[in-house]
Amino acid sequence: MKKLIVANWKMNPKAAKEALALLEEVKKEIRGIKEAEIIICPPAIWLQNLKPSAAIKMGAQNCHWEVSGAFTGEISAAMAAGAGAEYVILGHSERRQFMGETDEIVNLKIKAALKAKLKIILCVGEKIGEEMSAVVESQMSASLAGLSVNQMKEVVIAYEPVWAIGTGKACSPDDALSVGLFIRKTLTKLYSRFLAEKTPVLYGGSVNGQNCEAYISQSRLDGLLVGGASLDAKEFGQIAKKIS
Ligand code: 13P
Repeated sequence: MKKLIVANWKMNPKAAKEALALLEEVKKEIRGIKEAEIIICPPAIWLQNLKPSAAIKMGAQNCHWEVSGAFTGEISAAMAAGAGAEYVILGHSERRQFMGETDEIVNLKIKAALKAKLKIILCVGEKIGEEMSAVVESQMSASLAGLSVNQMKEVVIAYEPVWAIGTGKACSPDDALSVGLFIRKTLTKLYSRFLAEKTPVLYGGSVNGQNCEAYISQSRLDGLLVGGASLDAKEFGQIAKKIS
C-alpha cells in the first residue's frame, strides 16, 4: 500500500497567490516520488484554483452534512468534490473545539461525503489528561455508526492527539505504535480483522522532517497528516521523500 501524506493547510496561506505558489513549490519538491500518495487540503475557497495532478490529489478540510439549503457559510460535500476534492478531513479536533462538532455531526458528515464520492480522513485523538483508549474508541464507534464494510473502504483514520497539535510535542513512535494497534483492535471489534488490516491509519501532530520516518518504520503506520510543516514546501518535500 502506498503511504499517504496529507497536508492540512488549515486557514493558510493568507492569499490565493501564495497558495498557488506554495502548490507549485510542493510539486517541484516531490517530483519523482512514486511510492506515496500526496493529498493537499487547502482552504475550500482555493480548491478550484489549485489543480490536482498525477502526483497530487486535493482534499477539503470540512463539508456540511446536507446537500443544499439555508446553511450560511457552509459548503456541501458535492461542492467540495466538484471543486476538485477527492478526500475530506472530518472530525478535526479544531472543528470539535472551536465549532462545537460532535461525533454525531461527524457521523452525518461522513455519510454525506461518501454519497458525494469523497474519501474520508477521520481524525480522532484525546486531549491532555484524557484516556486515549476511551476517547478514541468512543469517537470511532460514534463517528462510524451505520457505515457498511463497503463504505469503510473509503475511510482513513488519523490519530491526532490534541496535545500534540501545533505544540512541537509529538507523540513518541512507541506510543503511536500502541495507538495504531488499538485503532486496529477497535476496527476489528466494529467490523473485522480483515477490514482493520486494510484501513490506513495515519499519525498527525507536530510531524516534521526529523521525526516523520519513525512513524512509518517504528510505529508501522500508513502515513502522516501534516499541519504546520506542510506550509514549508522544502520541509514537506523532505517528509514525502523520507517516507516514500
Ligand atoms: P501540526 O502538524 O501543525 O501539529 O498540525 C497537525 C494537524 O492538526 C493536522 O491536521
